Amino acid sequence: MAPRNLLDLDDVSAEELVALLDRAETFHRDPSPRRALAGVPVVNLFFEPSTRTQTSFAIAEHRLGAEVVTIDPGDSSMVKGESIADTAVTLAAMGVGAIVVRHKESGFPYVLARSFPGHVVNAGDGTHAHPTQALLDLMTLRQEFGGIKGLRVAVVGDVAHSRVARSNIHGLRALGAQTILVGPPTLLPDAMAQTAVQVERDLDCVLPTVDAVMLLRIQRERLDSALVPSVAAYAEQFQLNPRRLALLREGAVVMHPGPFNRGVELTDEVLEFPGCRYVNQVANGVFARMAVLEALCA
Ligand code: NCD
Repeated sequence: MAPRNLLDLDDVSAEELVALLDRAETFHRDPSPRRALAGVPVVNLFFEPSTRTQTSFAIAEHRLGAEVVTIDPGDSSMVKGESIADTAVTLAAMGVGAIVVRHKESGFPYVLARSFPGHVVNAGDGTHAHPTQALLDLMTLRQEFGGIKGLRVAVVGDVAHSRVARSNIHGLRALGAQTILVGPPTLLPDAMAQTAVQVERDLDCVLPTVDAVMLLRIQRERLDSALVPSVAAYAEQFQLNPRRLALLREGAVVMHPGPFNRGVELTDEVLEFPGCRYVNQVANGVFARMAVLEALCA
């Protein structure tokens, strides 16, 4: 039986991940419109700001022929006190087949999925998970290196507050890569080390040993500012800049989920670096999301 929801990658097997990535690659090679979701109303419910994720879900839904409905939560009955469960039942009664949801509370999509009989796709919940971002990151790595197995991937910065990092850890481990988390103890506790996941503090030592570097944004909206006393001190240790780019192996790539803060986790030169794959990531987002929606709903 096909899975009903995509809430995180920890409940997606390696085989299912590969199937999604293969399908996303098919859409990449032939991005012509499809009919897999023809007549299926899909609701996009974003309680947190989003440029990339919301737009690419909408494009993916249109490309599959879905009836795309975007609800601004500020205009929904939730502001009148309607519970998420009652909202879910209401949407289901109209024939909504899938809800794509982003929320600042970790676990929100799981609660929604309990009351909604259709499909729920997590587009980012608090600090917990962002499975479609991890899928598009895996897709980008696979295009670059031909496979994920055996890769060494550094994830740098505010790991503790990053749903992108958490979902990537699951996906990278499932497909046989080694993840090296790098950041200060306030943003990366030692306890995040686990099977196939290392915690390191010295970025300069890690850079020459990895195939890819995923930079993270400091999640100011989620953290106590005392955790990052000064941008200058953070940049001194963890900012990717021309000096640090020169430490990378030949062929290594740099990734970032966006939005980036120039002058904090990276300098302008990083975005002009030939190994920067930010644009590929964004492009792949549409295809990865098409693969997920098709697998769930078609
Ligand atoms: C990320 C998110 O919202 O979790 N952005 C994204 O989806 N492309 C990362 C971030 O906000 O830093």
